[in-house]
Amino acid sequence: MSWSADDREGQGAASVCQSQSKLALPLAPGGVLWMTGLSGAGKSTLAQRLKAQLAADRCLAIVLDGDILRSGLNADLGFSSEERLENIRRTAEVAALFRDSGFVVVCALISPEAAHRQLARSIVRERYFEVHIDSSVAVCESRDPKGLYARARRGELREFTGISAPYEPPSSPDIAIDTAHSSVDDAAERLHAFVRNRIRPLTVEA
Ligand code: ADX
Repeated sequence: MSWSADDREGQGAASVCQSQSKLALPLAPGGVLWMTGLSGAGKSTLAQRLKAQLAADRCLAIVLDGDILRSGLNADLGFSSEERLENIRRTAEVAALFRDSGFVVVCALISPEAAHRQLARSIVRERYFEVHIDSSVAVCESRDPKGLYARARRGELREFTGISAPYEPPSSPDIAIDTAHSSVDDAAERLHAFVRNRIRPLTVEA
């Protein structure tokens, strides 16, 4: 390929950029909502609700869910404290990339230890908001949507958060949602209002 061919390619790329600049692309960074809470507390449910609400507002939003990430990007990781830290490190790096492209990134991971969450915060740095999806072990165990608490009680699952592995509640989250005493609708609306007020995501025109 000649230099002149490269030049033509460059001009072509420039014109694509020019036409893209006419589109309503995000002009401000988004933000990262880091949801922490026990398995069964409602993180995934609220994350998906929030994403749907933001989509209806025409805001860019993505959910990074621990269960889903563990089936792909983080499939090599288990549940020791060190492996959870690596799970969180990778997720926070991905979250920061999306945030820089204007997305509201909703991370839904147990992230059980304060040190885990501190790592996430230090990677994301700006526009990081800690959200405690708060429900007791007793309530989560009574819900047990995946039957995991029962398995943990039978000793079939090791290092299960809340049963045989620790959960350290955040001491000063940016927002705490008590899912034992509020409906999914009310909890989702509180989160939606929080995002509108604190992140103020830009809307993308059609
Ligand atoms: S984290 O601790 O590393 O942040 P993450 O949110 O990715 O955890 O994954 C938690 C999910 O993995 C739970 O919702 C549950 O479905 C599943 N899981 C399987 N084994 C365990 C375990 N030992 N402890 C906690 N969750 C587990």
